Amino acid sequence: MIKAFIFDLDGVITDTAEYHYRGWKRLAEEEGLAFTREDNEHLRGVARRESLMLILKDRVYPEEQIREMMERKNNYYLAFIKEISPRDLLPGAKELLAEIRAAGLKNALGSASKNAAEVIERLGIRDLFDAVSDGFSVERQKPAPDLFLHAAAQLGLRAPECVVVEDAAAGIEAAIVGGFRSVGLGPAERVGRADIILPNLAGVRLTALLNAFEPIPPNDK
Ligand code: BG6
Ligand code: MG
Repeated sequence: MIKAFIFDLDGVITDTAEYHYRGWKRLAEEEGLAFTREDNEHLRGVARRESLMLILKDRVYPEEQIREMMERKNNYYLAFIKEISPRDLLPGAKELLAEIRAAGLKNALGSASKNAAEVIERLGIRDLFDAVSDGFSVERQKPAPDLFLHAAAQLGLRAPECVVVEDAAAGIEAAIVGGFRSVGLGPAERVGRADIILPNLAGVRLTALLNAFEPIPPNDK
């Protein structure tokens, strides 16, 4: 029985995945490091420090410099999100959140970002969430299941009662390891391990989703 949905934020509810990319791209250029959109695909859903480590590859930097680079990228990101408003909701996201609530089910946020609270405030959707788990909630980040387990615990539910909605390979992996059902948004090369794969949330209705997970048994009389 499905009782709740746990939504990733960046790339699922709003296109901040693009702002994370631009922040890292600018930092990489300043540091003379190669970093392409293709490289960025591996950073989706990955926490700030781990993202920087993937960009630096095997280069070794003192801790102080690592912290400075993380802060610099975050400042670029913060400048982007200052402009966010309800217009930046991706198609279908708010409609689905509202439909879940209206059906008596719950919504949680499960985002690795330390800026998630500010983003959902600016998008005007804070009230649609029963629980928020973000970059401050757990130590071990996706692909560990800890963040989604934290969200489920806040809702008072078990993993099999919750559906995780994600755009990142690391997020789908976290859902599988944690025993959650999952909806993957994006190409199969990225989210192919999800139970259900969709391009995005545009036009996605709750009843269709629930039926896809729990097909009504054929009436064989
Ligand atoms: C995830 C994003 O939601 O949050 C990643 O997909 C990002 O790209 C991570 O690195 C951490 O975000 P922040 O805002 O704490 O740097
Ligand atoms: Mg994401």
